[in-house]
Amino acid sequence: MNADSTTLLAWYDRHRRTLPWRALPGMHSDPYRVWLSEVMLQQTTVKAVIPYFHAFTTRWPSVADLAGASDADVMAAWAGLGYYSRARKLIECARVIAAEHGGHFPQTESALLKLPGIGPYTAAAIAAIAFGEPAVVVDGNIERVTTRLFAIDTPLPAAKPIIKARVGDMTPLTRPGDFAQGMMDLGATICTPRKPACGLCPFREACKAHHLGSEESYPVKPPKPQRPRRFGAAFVMTRGQDILLGRRPPKGLLGGMVEVPGTEWVSDFDESLAFRDSPIAQLNWRRMPTRVEHIFTHFALEVTVYSAEVPPGTLAPKGLRFEPFADLDRLGLPSVMRKIAEVGLGSNR
Ligand code: ADE
Repeated sequence: MNADSTTLLAWYDRHRRTLPWRALPGMHSDPYRVWLSEVMLQQTTVKAVIPYFHAFTTRWPSVADLAGASDADVMAAWAGLGYYSRARKLIECARVIAAEHGGHFPQTESALLKLPGIGPYTAAAIAAIAFGEPAVVVDGNIERVTTRLFAIDTPLPAAKPIIKARVGDMTPLTRPGDFAQGMMDLGATICTPRKPACGLCPFREACKAHHLGSEESYPVKPPKPQRPRRFGAAFVMTRGQDILLGRRPPKGLLGGMVEVPGTEWVSDFDESLAFRDSPIAQLNWRRMPTRVEHIFTHFALEVTVYSAEVPPGTLAPKGLRFEPFADLDRLGLPSVMRKIAEVGLGSNR
């Protein structure tokens, strides 16, 4: 069992998924159906796409029908699939094909690439699947299969040209579309990101990653960028068994959520100015020995927590309110605020 197209095509002939845009084995598919499915499948799963694919092809059976539809009808039919720029480009592309190509898809990868919304992947996929051109098709599944098969150690995205060259070497002159879809199916059903079913794989003997016992190490991801750090202070003010809370502005990070009052979170935080933002500056604020660390998508946060007590009967400053500690669970504090409250309350609770 070599890493070659014959092995893969034999597997595909037995195990291919039945999908509504696919032709019978060995036949070419309708380019309209291939194009529509490929655009829908960008950023969307096969399962989610199938009902939309049926709805579109029933209502608009050809690219000329789609070109004649109103924008509003197409956008409404697309609703729920997301990434709506795809739908706008779809309409634009259908109209160019109707107006400039007599309602027929151009038949080569390079001509397809000139159409609106058709990028390198989609052009190669349509050329291979609908027109039998041995174009080199590489999507996420094919990347995973290929980097494992050849144990390509270069991290993505630098590995892309290497992967493309390897897939190019494997792509057959006959049945290139079935080969591409076979690689996709292998990636989707056997060579999965986690726990691949290597026992069922037609490439298990050829696969270098399998021999190394390190299938899941491929594709190699680029090193994570260091998150920038931001700093700030938060003020846990207690009154008996109550804690002072506020609400964040509706827009922005943690918009509209409950918060412990505090400073802005910035990279060049000046601790000596923190108290300008405390709810009551002239209190005897104690700095807690533990800082709160929290990881957001785009930065890491380090918060210095101060605590102070106020006498019973003290009114909450404007825009803030006291809530019982006991209610913290049901107030829906985001986890960073929860951590801040816990550090600030310390042994107080
Ligand atoms: N994902 C994108 N295109 C596909 C295809 N033609 N078959 C299976 N999965 C796909």
